[in-house]
Amino acid sequence: MKITVVGAGAVGATCADNIVRKELAHELVLLDIKEGLAEGKALDMTQTAALLGFDTRITGSTNDYAKTANSDVVIITSGLPRKPGMTREELIGTNAGIVKGVTENLLRNSPDAIVIIVSNPMDTMTYLTLQTSGLPKRRIIGMGGILDSARFKCYLSQHLDCSPNDLNAVVVGGHGDTTMIPLIRFATWNSVPVTKFLSEDQQKKIVADTMVGGATLTKLIGTSAWYAPGAAVAALVESIVRDEKKLFTCCVSLEGEWGQNDICLGVPVVIGRSGWEKIVDFDLNEEEKATFNKSADAVRSMNDVLKTV
Ligand code: 2OP
Repeated sequence: MKITVVGAGAVGATCADNIVRKELAHELVLLDIKEGLAEGKALDMTQTAALLGFDTRITGSTNDYAKTANSDVVIITSGLPRKPGMTREELIGTNAGIVKGVTENLLRNSPDAIVIIVSNPMDTMTYLTLQTSGLPKRRIIGMGGILDSARFKCYLSQHLDCSPNDLNAVVVGGHGDTTMIPLIRFATWNSVPVTKFLSEDQQKKIVADTMVGGATLTKLIGTSAWYAPGAAVAALVESIVRDEKKLFTCCVSLEGEWGQNDICLGVPVVIGRSGWEKIVDFDLNEEEKATFNKSADAVRSMNDVLKTV
């Protein structure tokens, strides 16, 4: 198994770090346009192998895509990160050009790879990849909902004073502060609906905190978060390489599923060795359906910006 991570910034490097710790590949390539950055981080990680007990060979490269050849999974984290006060959407113009170019270079060298998009605005970058790469839809996966769902579980566990690992909770829709939808009515604590234990106000606060989960961190740190995004990517990659068939919310192409067409949006999907394998439907009530459609409208108008860049 060979995995490439493009972008050796905090998010890309943390993805790589989590992937090698889990021994998901025999070879991992970390690539960046900044001279020496990927090589340096790759060497730093390699020096942890004897301490952490992994055998993955890590190669760093300054923009030499030949080194990424024959990758099974490629992860794109390149592009500008958010600054405090900035939405993910404001990054469209710059990041569209970067993501398109990176994808072309990657696929020229690894035509059979599964592509994971992390760059923001992720829903639009995933749609751009679907439109421009020529790849089958099941090999294009946007990473957002799995991360948002982890943040949702984090806030739920704090309010319930329970283990986040005993929770089932899903965020669907766009990966934006106003477009994501934490489905609290479906969230359970070992099969018992969490709504049984939480007041209306607590539920509202958990949902609101989840929606600005990333923005809160951007405000605190001064740039985008990396620990949770890196761990989320690694969980996704693990389900692919070990063919685990885990059910994660990912941004995928919708052709009628969840009532939407011509869009990439976060829905629960089964993730296995061939990419996303199937979309799972939830019985949304009328209010949840309307919220999902509103989220789709917002993402669609962001996608329209692609026509102008
Ligand atoms: C986040 O939500 C990086 O978009 C990512 O932190």
